[in-house]
Amino acid sequence: MRRPLIAGNWKMNLDRAGAVALAQAVAAKGNDFPAADLLVCPPSIYLDPVAAVLRGSKVALGAQNMYHEGNGAFTGEISAAMLVDLGCSYVILGHSERRHIMGETDEQVRAKTVAALAAGITPIVCVGELLSERQAGQTASVIARQVAGSLAGLSAADCEKTVIAYEPVWAIGTGQVATPEQAEEVHRDLRRLLADRYNTATAEKVRILYGGSVKPNNAGELLQQPDIDGALIGGASLKAEDFLGIAAAAK
Ligand code: 13P
Repeated sequence: MRRPLIAGNWKMNLDRAGAVALAQAVAAKGNDFPAADLLVCPPSIYLDPVAAVLRGSKVALGAQNMYHEGNGAFTGEISAAMLVDLGCSYVILGHSERRHIMGETDEQVRAKTVAALAAGITPIVCVGELLSERQAGQTASVIARQVAGSLAGLSAADCEKTVIAYEPVWAIGTGQVATPEQAEEVHRDLRRLLADRYNTATAEKVRILYGGSVKPNNAGELLQQPDIDGALIGGASLKAEDFLGIAAAAK
C-alpha cells in the first residue's frame, strides 16, 4: 500500500515571516490527516526557521534543490549533508523550472539523486513534457528518456526509496490541470517503465506524485486514480487552507 504524499513546493516565494507563518498554520493541522504524509519545501534560505516550527509536528521538511558534490569549492551550492543537518528528509530534484530555466540535464539530476540517496534523503525526481512535446505525440518518449537518464544506475532498493513527480510543464502555474485520465495514463506508463527496468514489486512500491495546477477542487479526482500517489503543489501550497484542503482529499 502506497501512502499518499502531499508536498508543497513554495518555489521562490514568501519572506522569512511569511514562511514561518505558513509553516505554523500547516503544522497546527498536521495531525488531522492520518492517511497522508505532509511535506513542505521552502526556499533554502528559510529551511532553518521553518525546521524550528515543524519540529515535533507530523509535517516533513524538504528542499527544492541541492548539489551532488559533498563539499568544497562550489560557490552558492548546498550539499545533501547540509540539508540533513537542517532536518530535511526530502529534496525536489530536476523540477521543470530547473530543467528549462537553469538548463539542468538528466545527468545532473541523476548525480543529485544518487547523492541524496547516499545521504539518506528521499529524492523527489520530477519529469514532464512540454506542451509542444505533448502536441507532437511525444509525451511517452520524453518521460521514458527523462526516467532512463535521471534514474540511470539506481538499484531497485534505491528506486523504491525514490519518489517520482509527473509534472506536465504546460500544467504548471497555468491553471490548466491535466485531466485525471491524462495524468493517470502517464502515471501508469511510469509504473510500467519501472516494472520493465526493475520488477513489478519495485514498481508497485514507488510513489508517483502529480503536479501542475492542483487545487482543492480538483485534487479529489486526481488522487482517486490508482497510480496517482500524491501531489506536488506550487501556487496552492502558499495558502495553508488550500494546501490542507488538498491534503483532505488524500484518502
Ligand atoms: P502549480 O501548482 O503552481 O501549478 O505548480 C506545480 C509545481 O511546479 C510544483 O512543483
